[in-house]
Amino acid sequence: MADLKTTYMGIELKNPIILGACNLVSKPEIIQKLEEAGIAAFVYKSLFEEQINLESIQLEEELTEYSYRSSEAPNVFPYLKHAGPEEHLLDLKKFKKSVSVPVFASLNAINDEVWTEYAKKLQDTGVDGLELNLYWVPDNFSSNAADIENKQIEIVNKVKNVISIPVAVKLSPFYTNTLNVIKRMSEAGADGVVIFNRFFQPEINTGDEEFYYPFDLSKEKDYQLTIRYTGMLFGNIKSSICGSRAIFETHQMLKVLLAGADAVQIVSAVYKSGHNHIDLMLYELKSWMERKGYNTIDDFKGKLSRLKIEDPFMYNRAHYVDILSKSEEIYKRHLMV
Ligand SMILES: Cc1cc2nc3c(=O)[nH]c(=O)nc-3n(C[C@H](O)[C@H](O)[C@H](O)COP(=O)(O)O)c2cc1C
Repeated sequence: MADLKTTYMGIELKNPIILGACNLVSKPEIIQKLEEAGIAAFVYKSLFEEQINLESIQLEEELTEYSYRSSEAPNVFPYLKHAGPEEHLLDLKKFKKSVSVPVFASLNAINDEVWTEYAKKLQDTGVDGLELNLYWVPDNFSSNAADIENKQIEIVNKVKNVISIPVAVKLSPFYTNTLNVIKRMSEAGADGVVIFNRFFQPEINTGDEEFYYPFDLSKEKDYQLTIRYTGMLFGNIKSSICGSRAIFETHQMLKVLLAGADAVQIVSAVYKSGHNHIDLMLYELKSWMERKGYNTIDDFKGKLSRLKIEDPFMYNRAHYVDILSKSEEIYKRHLMV
């Protein structure tokens, strides 16, 4: 019988499917169903530095107001200090105790001190690992690529120095040489890389002529970028690889594993198809492995990576040229339909 176990950042998972960071962790009834369906691990929603700052500002205002009314203020407010992040930490601690599979925390900070201070606090909740959500969109014209990349690698270094649980980095694909950045993150000690994050982009309502942020799920083919980079990273970095983005169905998970991922994270699939979908994906993964004669995930993991395939040009520019040369033929075929 096929064994679905895998190892991610040194942690054994009963199968490769992890729930990626999202708000579903605040719904105990859904979490219980996901666990019953067989999910192998959870990433708790990120703690953002904005949350921490917002609470601090609010509390400072309240503290000033309160101190006019009571000399007890200094005794009362220390307890409330950082109530926002404190609540997050408490909820996470409760969450960790409520499930039987590994839980990873997630942090998205700005300042070095916040990265390290909250990495330690998140570790203290008892989680099994920490994901650094390095999402940051440059909004100025002066930062150059090297400065941004060096800063991010420094964050990995600093966090690794202050905590002992495994650390993953969740990355955007938007670097000049994504492979180089990931390799350097791996060398800086990242135990895992999650490729890739997806960003909510602003939209414009042409009626009101105003911006809004739609709640979009991933787009169907978004996983192809994950395949490309997973396939090129496999065998070249020490870190575990977790494939993410638009893994809606079993065949997409299989492709990412064949390219070389140790595990996958899914979010949109659960929003779209519910918890029972995990059950189905695990059943289909097992059936596929049995049909193919694979006993373990390792038997086929990375089989279609750049290292293992006979034609490495599949991952290169030559393939692009090949597609372009066929485009006219495809256009003609469509015209005839
Ligand atoms: C409602 C919602 C909330 C999310 N919250 C977070 C978050 O707190 N931290 C994070 O790193 N990613 C967050 N994400 C991104 C997901 O973890 C994931 O990277 C992204 O949705 C791509 O995976 P998918 O294609 O399976 O949805 C969120 C996504 C959704 C839809």
